[in-house]
Amino acid sequence: MCGIVGYIGESQAAPILLEGLSKLEYRGYDSAGIAVYDGENIKVQKAVGRLKVLSEMTHDGATMQGVVGIGHTRWATHGAPSNTNAHPHYNQAETIVVVHNGIIENYMKLRKRLETKGYQFLSETDTEVVAHLLDYYYKGEPLEAITKIMHRVEGSYALGIIFKDHPEQVYAVRKDSPLIVGHGKDGNLIASDVPAVLKYTRNVYFILNEEIAVLTKETIGFYNVDGEEIQKECTTIDWDINAAEKGGYEHFMLKEMYEQPQTVRDTLNPRIKEGSIVIEELGMSDEEIQKISKIHIVACGSAYHVGVTAKYVFEGMARIPVEVDLASEFRYRNPILEKDALVIIISQSGETADSLAALREAKIRGVKTLGIVNVVGSSIAREADKVMYTWAGPEIAVATTKAYSAQLIATYLLAVKFAQVRGEVLEEEVTGILKDLQKLPEQIEMLLSHKEKIQRFANRYIAAKDVFFVGRGIDYAISMEGSLKLKEISYIHSEAYAAGELKHGTISLIEEGTLVAAVVTQEDLYKKTISNIVELRSRGAFVLAVTNTGNTEIQKAADYVIYIPQTNRYFTNSLAIIPLQLFSYYVSVGKGCDVDKPRNLAKSVTVE
Ligand code: F6R
Repeated sequence: MCGIVGYIGESQAAPILLEGLSKLEYRGYDSAGIAVYDGENIKVQKAVGRLKVLSEMTHDGATMQGVVGIGHTRWATHGAPSNTNAHPHYNQAETIVVVHNGIIENYMKLRKRLETKGYQFLSETDTEVVAHLLDYYYKGEPLEAITKIMHRVEGSYALGIIFKDHPEQVYAVRKDSPLIVGHGKDGNLIASDVPAVLKYTRNVYFILNEEIAVLTKETIGFYNVDGEEIQKECTTIDWDINAAEKGGYEHFMLKEMYEQPQTVRDTLNPRIKEGSIVIEELGMSDEEIQKISKIHIVACGSAYHVGVTAKYVFEGMARIPVEVDLASEFRYRNPILEKDALVIIISQSGETADSLAALREAKIRGVKTLGIVNVVGSSIAREADKVMYTWAGPEIAVATTKAYSAQLIATYLLAVKFAQVRGEVLEEEVTGILKDLQKLPEQIEMLLSHKEKIQRFANRYIAAKDVFFVGRGIDYAISMEGSLKLKEISYIHSEAYAAGELKHGTISLIEEGTLVAAVVTQEDLYKKTISNIVELRSRGAFVLAVTNTGNTEIQKAADYVIYIPQTNRYFTNSLAIIPLQLFSYYVSVGKGCDVDKPRNLAKSVTVE
């Protein structure tokens, strides 16, 4: 998730841009850059790494004189973190400069077209397409060029733009990526988020989808995608700065849970084209996919739990045998890897020491490797033969939520693709499967909107000593993640069990009132898990069931039921995990734990 700041006014722009960008550092970034109009030209300075490097390079902005500018912190998506890929990006004549947050989904197509018209690209970014496309449509009227590109560009974007011919204006436009306008006393600002402008003003306009803002040093005008002027209301911000960095949420974890619908969309949408799944980055021919003899999924923690789910999905849909390993085990167990095996390493950070070592182990043995990674340019992304990125943006809370959800989606996409290529699903079935995938974001939104109900339930369990999570099949995989979420952020002892395994030992731990969360989303296993629930309740357990809408049978067996919407049986994890995340979160809040930074844990585990 990149950060955007823009300024036009009476003061020097560069120090204001740097200050504003520093307030967006929480969003995560790996390079930064600013562009300032110096009275003659638009000058750009960029630096890889911390914002401090850019500040030092420009003597806190003093070397970039001018009262109009835009700035950017980049979280790499298309192309590794580098000076060339850092924003702002110019058109060829350096008369238009652009900063961008979001993902241009059709950038490859646009890039190819522009290249045939003689445009030369310097970076690997999707953003540079916007600069050249603006150039292509620009005939002296910036607003006209902007509305034209809005009809051509697909995906999500928040853009800050300066035209050298119109240096008395800064342009801003958004679709599905946040952007606000601040109305200050000695100038106006744009930013990805409120904290960046709070030092200068509390009067803010929220730009909505497909709206354009045109800022001069005194005025702000708003336009729709047809270039017609629209009226907007100014909001006065009364939050403190810390709350503002979390977008008004109490914790990053809550904010990130709420970002899940968007994360799922961003991971999914660019890979569904004209009704079929296109995973260009996989770089495997149909023949190679058909030849895969076995998949090994290797990961740690929550990413491992994604692997456990994926095993059911790959085996069920694509009929490919799957082994799932904890990376710390895989690397030392001398695994047997067939020559046509595919090793998939799943990692949010791309830097987890054990996962990286497992990847290297697989490579030494000469098998094909694929990384499912969130951080672009990270070690696993660089070293895996192929990399499929999850577009979750930076995750700040130590306990993963949105990256986990994005990883699930990546594995579903692969499984459906493999199933299709190997003839395990019919073409007509694929349409239904894709529809179910595309419904997930709004279904997640709906589940998140029931947070109060789960909060009330969670408040009853803040003093719990032990909690158990049970399920069968995919529901067992969901239970593992539900259990990890609870223990890591609330410090309550918790275990996940395959529901049928309880009676082989663990059931002796059940006492009067012990909470057991039973996940029951696999229709063919309803009856089996319900009989486990009955066993548990007869020993005093209080059973919370998470099940599909329509499973009324369970109401007789469980004490409390949370329903999730209907989806494909292989995708239920993406929905059932939402109430479990919310439950853990509210138990942790209720206990007064440090939700975002639980004790003894680090976000990226770079040691063995
Ligand atoms: C739990 C959690 C961890 C990570 C694990 C792997 O909430 O976040 O269990 O999933 O440390 O990290 P990555 O995905 O960065 O390899």
